Amino acid sequence: MPDVRIRLDHSVTPDDTAALWPVYDAVFADHPSFAAWRERVWDRHTVRGGFRLARAYRESELVGFAYGYIGEPGQWWTDNARRVLAPDVADAWLGGHFELVSLGVLESARRSGIGRELIRALLADLEPGRVLLMATADSTDPARRLYASAGWQVLGPGIGPGTVILGMRTGRAR
Ligand SMILES: CC(C)(COP(=O)(O)OP(=O)(O)OC[C@H]1O[C@@H](n2cnc3c(N)ncnc32)[C@H](O)[C@@H]1OP(=O)(O)O)[C@@H](O)C(=O)NCCC(=O)NCCS
Repeated sequence: MPDVRIRLDHSVTPDDTAALWPVYDAVFADHPSFAAWRERVWDRHTVRGGFRLARAYRESELVGFAYGYIGEPGQWWTDNARRVLAPDVADAWLGGHFELVSLGVLESARRSGIGRELIRALLADLEPGRVLLMATADSTDPARRLYASAGWQVLGPGIGPGTVILGMRTGRAR
């Protein structure tokens, strides 16, 4: 991973948010505007307990990111995951888990280990525990290949068609 620097932060400034948006939008293109993304997602997520953001820079260019927070009952994702997972799996994994909400690397920077390194940095000093994410059900997708190679296991169906929930135990809980 030559010339790539990864940094981890537990809060963001307005400048950080403005700089992240074009990268987020280039990778996911799933919100109509910066304002909509902030209102519906980003500004809600950044204030949650345990929020952390890993960013990858090539030279001074932001080329990738990963972020998450501690998931709790009463939050949309945790409550819906409980609805779709088998009850014993939900009991074992949900509540106080770390939720890896989003991971993205610009197309021009892919396949050089940045995605793997972003996850490593994001989870590096987490308390021992459970980490969850949702991904496509297509096990040949690049992200699914990355998660499989990093030891994530499929816990059950995801929220919405064509998705699955994956989990990994970190630290001593492994
Ligand atoms: C998924 C994503 C973050 C991977 O980023 P990346 O920097 O290219 O990933 P890495 O270079 O660290 O790859 C790590 C491993 O993942 C697997 N992998 C990644 N991309 C792959 C691809 N296109 N084909 C096959 N395997 C792939 C490989 O096992 C790879 O290890 P290897 O290079 O030693 O073989 C990137 O493809 C992306 O941003 N995709 C669009 C957004 C997305 O799907 N995010 C995840 C949502 S759940």
